[in-house]
Amino acid sequence: MRTETPPLVRLENYRPSAFLIDRVDLDIRLDPHATRITAALALRPNPAGEDGAPLHLDGDDLTLVALDLDGVPVPAGDMAVGPSGLTLHRPPRRPFVLRVVTEVDPTANTRLMGLYRTEGVYCTQCEADGFRRITYFLDRPDVMAVYTTRIEARRDEAPVLLGNGNPVESGPVGEDRHYAVWHDPHPKPAYLFAIVGGRLGKVEAPFRTVEGRAVTCAVYVEPGKEDRAGYALDAVIRSMEWDERAFGRAYDLDVFNVVAVSAFNMGAMENKGLNIFNDKYVLAVPETATDADYAAIEAIIAHEYFHNWSGNRVTCRDWFQLCLKEGLTVFRDQEFSSDMRSRPVHRIGEVRSLRARQFPEDAGPLRHPVRPTAYAEINNFYTATVYDKGAEIVRMLRTLVGGAAFRAGMDRYFADNDGRAATVEDFLAAFEAVTGRDLSAFARWYERPGTPRLSATGAYDAAASRYTLRLAQTLPVEGPPLVIPVALGLVGAAGPLAGVACAGVTDGVFVLDRAEASVVFENVTEEPVPSLLRDFSAPVRLDLALSDAQRLRLLAHDSDPFNRWQAAQDVALRLILDPDPARAGAFAEALGTFLDGEALADPAFAALVLALPTEGEAADALPADVDPDAIHRARHALRAHLGRTLRPRFERIEAALAPQVSAAYSPDAASAGRRALRNVALDLIAAGDPGAGAALAVRRLDEAGNMTDRLAALATIAQIPGEAREAALAAFGRRYAHEPLVLDKWFAIQATIAEPGTLARIEALKAHPAFAMTNPNRVRALIGSFSMANPTQFARADGAGFALVAETVKTLDAANPQVAARLLTAFGSWRRLEKNRRVAAAEMLNRIKAVPGLSRDVADILSRTMKDG
Ligand code: TRP
Ligand code: ZN
Repeated sequence: MRTETPPLVRLENYRPSAFLIDRVDLDIRLDPHATRITAALALRPNPAGEDGAPLHLDGDDLTLVALDLDGVPVPAGDMAVGPSGLTLHRPPRRPFVLRVVTEVDPTANTRLMGLYRTEGVYCTQCEADGFRRITYFLDRPDVMAVYTTRIEARRDEAPVLLGNGNPVESGPVGEDRHYAVWHDPHPKPAYLFAIVGGRLGKVEAPFRTVEGRAVTCAVYVEPGKEDRAGYALDAVIRSMEWDERAFGRAYDLDVFNVVAVSAFNMGAMENKGLNIFNDKYVLAVPETATDADYAAIEAIIAHEYFHNWSGNRVTCRDWFQLCLKEGLTVFRDQEFSSDMRSRPVHRIGEVRSLRARQFPEDAGPLRHPVRPTAYAEINNFYTATVYDKGAEIVRMLRTLVGGAAFRAGMDRYFADNDGRAATVEDFLAAFEAVTGRDLSAFARWYERPGTPRLSATGAYDAAASRYTLRLAQTLPVEGPPLVIPVALGLVGAAGPLAGVACAGVTDGVFVLDRAEASVVFENVTEEPVPSLLRDFSAPVRLDLALSDAQRLRLLAHDSDPFNRWQAAQDVALRLILDPDPARAGAFAEALGTFLDGEALADPAFAALVLALPTEGEAADALPADVDPDAIHRARHALRAHLGRTLRPRFERIEAALAPQVSAAYSPDAASAGRRALRNVALDLIAAGDPGAGAALAVRRLDEAGNMTDRLAALATIAQIPGEAREAALAAFGRRYAHEPLVLDKWFAIQATIAEPGTLARIEALKAHPAFAMTNPNRVRALIGSFSMANPTQFARADGAGFALVAETVKTLDAANPQVAARLLTAFGSWRRLEKNRRVAAAEMLNRIKAVPGLSRDVADILSRTMKDG
């Protein structure tokens, strides 16, 4: 079969379902190859739906065993069964019960959607459309039902049986089987359904909600790894407390379960009362997990828990509204992490990841609005744009209406939409209701693709003590202007200017809702440097021509930590794109002064100031004809310069931090900050003096008492060719031979070595006993990191890097299309490369295209990536 552009589902074609399902009674008999599912579906015609329509139930890869309607088998002539589902030609026009018996093979399910087995554990993944791989159903989020689930299995195979909601009863079945019944009283769409069965250990803790409900929280993991589940469990409890305090949201069941599984397509899933996690985002002890892992676990536990209100109690009417739950929930988890850690440091991290992932997406062929209007494969729309730009929109909304009105609007949204499947319009209506404002212009953020540009020019009139700032917005796609909140201030030679007056600026924010506007500041007694987009108040690209000296004034004196960091980034980025030794010298000097004054007061912030823009960010700043080798060389030269110049400072910092750093490991943000500063210093020292750097890294590897420091040292030495590197890599590989999540880090470090030999290294690692194409974490670690974080080798001019990834996409597509399609998105920026690389990329894309029988997932990404323009 030749692959054609897959057909599109369009938002404008949304129609309510012709039927509704009120109750679902499931009986699931787990078996490795022949799991039998009996589903009793209480259906009725939807009063809001089309009258007299046939009943089409979605189905995918199912074997239909039996079907009866109100106890009577459905005659073959009354129905049609095909690859995409089952149709009843003349369904009753009254409530009725359909009993559907299906059979599936969980062991053969390599797509990891529906019911599958990983390391012997049965689990499910139903978002976005996996429930149809368990039984025939109205698999759309606006069909919400109350579920009762009976699970039966062999006791030795699955001593633990978990479902959604609350446990009702359990007991033996004959000699060697047993069962458990779960009931979820909250109506939910099918995508939130889940069961788990397996041998699992657990840790648990009680929680009492503000409403007085006693909840048992538990985290289930592979037996023997219970000691690695404590941090996740603690994060659950902290999330529950925080959501009560920050959003007034209390938990609504007697149990809250989290299960860690080894093979999982994404990070985690918010199934009602039974969150299922990629084990990478649960398991942590200092010996195997880094500070970044701890932070990610805390954030993702919080994210999935927060979905209980933003996603589950209030769900989405259709998949076009995905940002309604994802953007909002990302915003909520960001706020949680900011409260748990350092707010400015966390904000910088959010923006770094937005720029690394969302900006390129918004600038390339996979660009789409935060609320898309059409899709071929919904699983390809779980993107940085929907999640992270979606969160930025919620953040801007809070900036516009203010904290108190934002909370009132959220309360209103939850109250008005509880138990409903809502839309973006419903969300905005809640804020309009509590503020009386018209948000229709603001709503354009959901519709307009691409990253806006905000350009600013300032003029100082000394005689009039007046500073005039002209702001203008340009959008990549024609249309009416966006509403852009611009947080701003003026900075003088010694610090932020106080006493300046400015009409149109409220609480430090000017709202640019026209194509252009002027902001006039009075009582400005010295020529200021403008500090714009403080705290990154809008997801735009800022064009503001400042000299290095002006930017370095912001680094030294701005009151906004984000813009202090941004100023250093801007200077560094210009030095990467346009190297200049004299300016590099001035930059190093300014960093030195900054470090002397503040490094020890806020090491986490200092570490971020020293972390230069990535090669990807530098590429993203160029209009076209990107040469990754040139970027790599220039960035390395700047790092080497900084490493040499700042080395005495680093040694002083090291001496000052040594006593605290050698204390017992704690994952808290302050301790992590100290480690981050030491490790970024190590990396810069090595850039400036590879011999000394390698020796220092070897020493750190020996001394390291935790994975954060050990991995940082390994990453540093990995970029320095030589015997020491090979010995260090081999020793690390042996030490963690039986720790797959640690080997993932080891795979990733080797895959991101910026040398031609990396291709051969990856080929060899594919044969490593721990590597498996069937485990998405392994594939992402080895091939995903190569394609996303090794630009010189992925985009080799000879095309060999592209070929490696293309081969993986082809192989993987047959087994797991979702992960294959995700891997293919690495080609998203191919048109912006210089000619030879562009030609090589096009050839590889064509080779994938020629493969017969590509999945819809891969065909969709491929056709959009190759589409002209
Ligand atoms: N809803 C999940 C989240 O963001 C993500 C998700 C969507 C997912 N589809 C999935 C997870 C498929 C695993 C597999 O929290
Ligand atoms: Zn989510």
